[in-house]
Amino acid sequence: MKSVYIAMAADLIHPGHLNIIKHGRELGEVTLGLLTDKAIASYKRLPYMSFDERRVVAENIKGVAHVVPQDTLDYVPNLRKYKPDYVVHGSDWREGVQKVVRERVVETLKEWGGELVELEYTQGISSTELISRQKTIGTTPNIRIKQLRRLINAKPIVRTIEAHNGISALIAENVSVVENGKRETFDAIWLSSLTDSTAKGKPDIEFVDSTSRSNTLSDILEVTTIPLIYDGDTGSYPEHFKLLVRRLERMGVSAVIIEDKIGLKRNSLFGTDVSQSQDSIEGFCEKIQAGKLARVTDDFMIIARIESLILDKGVDDAVARAKAYLEAGADGIMIHSRKKEPNEIFEFCKLYKGFAEGKPLVAVPSSYSQVYESELIGHGVNIVIYANHLLRAAYPAMFRTAETILKNKRAKEADEQCMSIKEILNIIPGTNED
Ligand code: SPV
Ligand code: MG
Repeated sequence: MKSVYIAMAADLIHPGHLNIIKHGRELGEVTLGLLTDKAIASYKRLPYMSFDERRVVAENIKGVAHVVPQDTLDYVPNLRKYKPDYVVHGSDWREGVQKVVRERVVETLKEWGGELVELEYTQGISSTELISRQKTIGTTPNIRIKQLRRLINAKPIVRTIEAHNGISALIAENVSVVENGKRETFDAIWLSSLTDSTAKGKPDIEFVDSTSRSNTLSDILEVTTIPLIYDGDTGSYPEHFKLLVRRLERMGVSAVIIEDKIGLKRNSLFGTDVSQSQDSIEGFCEKIQAGKLARVTDDFMIIARIESLILDKGVDDAVARAKAYLEAGADGIMIHSRKKEPNEIFEFCKLYKGFAEGKPLVAVPSSYSQVYESELIGHGVNIVIYANHLLRAAYPAMFRTAETILKNKRAKEADEQCMSIKEILNIIPGTNED
């Protein structure tokens, strides 16, 4: 009996996949290399189902004799291990991100005289097409909530961008660029207090209340499927924080980040130019614990944000607090800074690794925006938040356009600076439906 190796994600199984397995079965005994979340996230979006769920599906497909994990998009480690006589794949991988993967398969099979069998692509059906259909259906709170932890485990860094209303959230979810055949997208949304309140013309001082914030949240959740991280400001009183945790968890938010400030909250980027006070370690730990007790599931994360660097209290204070907050049950730490250089953040990162036992670390490169994601990854940061950029990009354009109308006493010149009505409406799903 010849041996056959077929790799796939087995997330959205369609007739194209079954056709490949059927051909494989005719050639010999099929081992299915099931791509792990990490392997899939290295080149496209996270699968809908977890690895274990996909394994159950794969094991029950007719003609599959064995299911083994494939931890990289590259087949080579598994090919050398199983030395199959055949690899079967659709012909669609001759182009795009998988082209190099294919070349390495061909080269490696030569080592023992194996053969690549390519089947013509099944027209009219593809996972990409199914995914876009799936997106129009939306998601559910309990699917969405789990996504953040899965992304943290599967990706070198979880790329998060601010949204402050429905349309900015649609942009955050749907914008993509293709580089070297790989599609780059944002993984998650940050519902920032700064941009939520600024968009309402209000200062970022916890005046936009929890009900108003949850209306914005609901607008965003209704039109997106990717996970959301909620800026919980100071979390208010422990009694209020408990209620907030329950509400966010019920709505399908993946994480709340609360900052260790007390009293009238001011935006962190003002630093010591305004009066703002840090909570005691004990006081903040009590709030974390209250939130942890209020959670219904382990999926929801409570992340503690440390303001020591914002308030010029130094890295040692930040480290002492990080240790205490993790000890109190925080699921991760956000370290913030308003310095133009990331040195103090990197110093913190280095020390954090020593005691955090893999708990996720969040960074917000607003003032030190020159850092690349690759540098943050190198320092062990798990989540990067671009905290205010969509809002800051939109309003200068509005100023310019309003001034243009004032100067010209008509709108024609302003039209040239604007998207067409058709283009803007096309961002909104459902616009063209009968
Ligand atoms: C926010 O985006 O609201 C934040 C980050 O909390 S910062 O504005 O830098 O304080
Ligand atoms: Mg904020």
